[in-house]
Amino acid sequence: MPPLALFFITAFVATPITLFIILPVLYLKLRPPTAHKSSHGKRQSRAAVLVLGDIGRSPRMQYHALSLAQNDRKVSLIGYVESRISPDIVEHPNITIHAISTPPKFLATSSILLFTIFAPLKIIYQLCILLELLLYTLPDDTAVLITQNPPSMPTFIVAIITRYYRGIRWVVDWHNFGYSILALKFGKAPIVGLSEWYERYFGKRADGHLTVTSAMKNFLQTGWNMGGQINVLYDRPPSQFQPFTAEERSDFLRRFNETESQAESILKGSTRLIVSATSWTPDEDFSILLKALLEYDREATMQSFLGKGGDALPRLLVIVTGKGPLKSYYESLFGTLELQSVDIKTAWLEPEDYPKLLACADLGISLHTSSSGLDLPMKVVDLFGCGIPVLAAGFQCVGELVKDGVNGKLFQDAEGLGALLKHLLSDSKELESLKKGALEETKDRWEENWKKNALPVIDRS
Ligand SMILES: *[C@@H]1O[C@H](CO)[C@@H](O)[C@H](O)[C@H]1NC(C)=O
Ligand SMILES: *[C@@H]1O[C@H](CO)[C@@H](O)[C@H](O)[C@H]1NC(C)=O
Repeated sequence: MPPLALFFITAFVATPITLFIILPVLYLKLRPPTAHKSSHGKRQSRAAVLVLGDIGRSPRMQYHALSLAQNDRKVSLIGYVESRISPDIVEHPNITIHAISTPPKFLATSSILLFTIFAPLKIIYQLCILLELLLYTLPDDTAVLITQNPPSMPTFIVAIITRYYRGIRWVVDWHNFGYSILALKFGKAPIVGLSEWYERYFGKRADGHLTVTSAMKNFLQTGWNMGGQINVLYDRPPSQFQPFTAEERSDFLRRFNETESQAESILKGSTRLIVSATSWTPDEDFSILLKALLEYDREATMQSFLGKGGDALPRLLVIVTGKGPLKSYYESLFGTLELQSVDIKTAWLEPEDYPKLLACADLGISLHTSSSGLDLPMKVVDLFGCGIPVLAAGFQCVGELVKDGVNGKLFQDAEGLGALLKHLLSDSKELESLKKGALEETKDRWEENWKKNALPVIDRS
C-alpha cells in the first residue's frame, strides 16, 4: 500500500475510531461510580431525543419532545438547528436544545464513487460529535434515548455505545428505512444491501420500537424477526392544527401576503385554495401535480371562454410549501407555463403560519409515495388536523390514513388527479361530504395517542 494512502487511513479513519472506543472506557474509569449507574432503582426523569437532521423540519421528533415535557420529563433535544424551531419548544423551561454542527458541505455528493469515499468520512465526523455529546455532555439523570430512523448511520452505533456505557435505554422511532431511500439513489449497489443488514442487525438491539404504520410493525416482526416491544404510533395532528371559523379564515386570507390579493374571490368561492406540502425530493413526483394542473387549466380556461359563467370551473390558487432539492428546478418551470386559470405559488412559512394556511384551504394534495411503501405522509395528518380533505397519491399502506371517499380521495397518476380536481370542484356535494369526513379526523389528536401508545414503550422498554 502506498505510504500516503496508509497515512490517510490512519489519520482519518483508524485514529478517531480507536480513540472513541478507548476514551469512553478511560472516562468511565475516572468517573465516580454512582454517576453512571443505570436507570434501575430511582426513576430518572430525563429523555434525550436525537434527530440526525434539522430539528425545525422534524415535526414528529419535536412532538415527542413536547409530549415528554408535558408528561413531566426533562428533555434534551439533539439535532441540527437550521430552520426555526417552534416557540413552544424553544421557550419550554424543561426542554434543552443541543445543537450539533453540520458536517462540512463538500461531503454531500450524489456521485457513487465519491459517495463511497465521503460517506464514511461524514459518518466518522458525526460519530465523534454524537459520542462526545451523548457520553460526556448529556446530564446524568438521562434514562432513555429516543432516536429516529432513518438515518441509522451512525445513530444506531452511538445509541448502542451509550446504552452500554451509561445504561441509558434506547427506543427507535421508525419513520421509514434508510436502505430503501438509498435504493432510490443507488439501485441495487452493494451499499444498499450493507445498509439493510446494518439497520436490521443493530436495530434489533434497541429496547423498544415505535412505528408509523401497522404495516411497518408487521414488517419488523415478520420480515426482520424483531422481538421486544413494538407499538404503532400513528402521526396524529397536535393541538396547534385546528379548523378555522369563517371569521378566522377571512382574517388570515386577507392578512397573509400570498393570498391577500385573492382573498375576496377565495371567500366567495370563485377561486379555490389548494395547499400542497412537499419535501421536493424524488420521493414525491411533483410533475404529477403540475400535469394535473395543466389539464385543469385547459378545461377551466375553455369553459370560461365558452361563457359558462357561474357553472364554469373555479380558478385555482395553489400554494406549495416546503423546502427541498428540486424546488428551484420546478420554480423556474412554473414561470414558463403561462396558465390562465391557475396560479401556483411556493412559500416557506413560519411555524405559526403553517397551520393557519392549511386551515384556510379548500383541499390539500399529497404527492408522497413511500420509498418503503410502509410510511405515511405526515402533511396529510396536518391537513386532517385542520379538517381539510385530501387528495393523496395511492400506495401500499396509504389506506391506513386516507379513506377513499370518506376523508379524501386517492389517485394513481396525473390524469387521475386532474379528473378528481375537475370533478370535485364542479360537484360541491361530494366535496362537502369529504369535508365532513376530514372534520371527524380532527377529534383524534397526537397528545392522547402518544400517551397511550408511545409512553409505555418509552417508560418500560
Ligand atoms: C419542569 O420541571 C419541573 C420539575 O420536574 C416541574 O415542576 C415543572 O412543572 C416543569 N415545567 C413545565 C412547564 O412543565
Ligand atoms: C411574502 O413574504 C415573504 C417573507 O415574509 C417573502 O419572502 C415573499 O416574497 C412575500 N411574497 C409576496 C408575494 O410578496
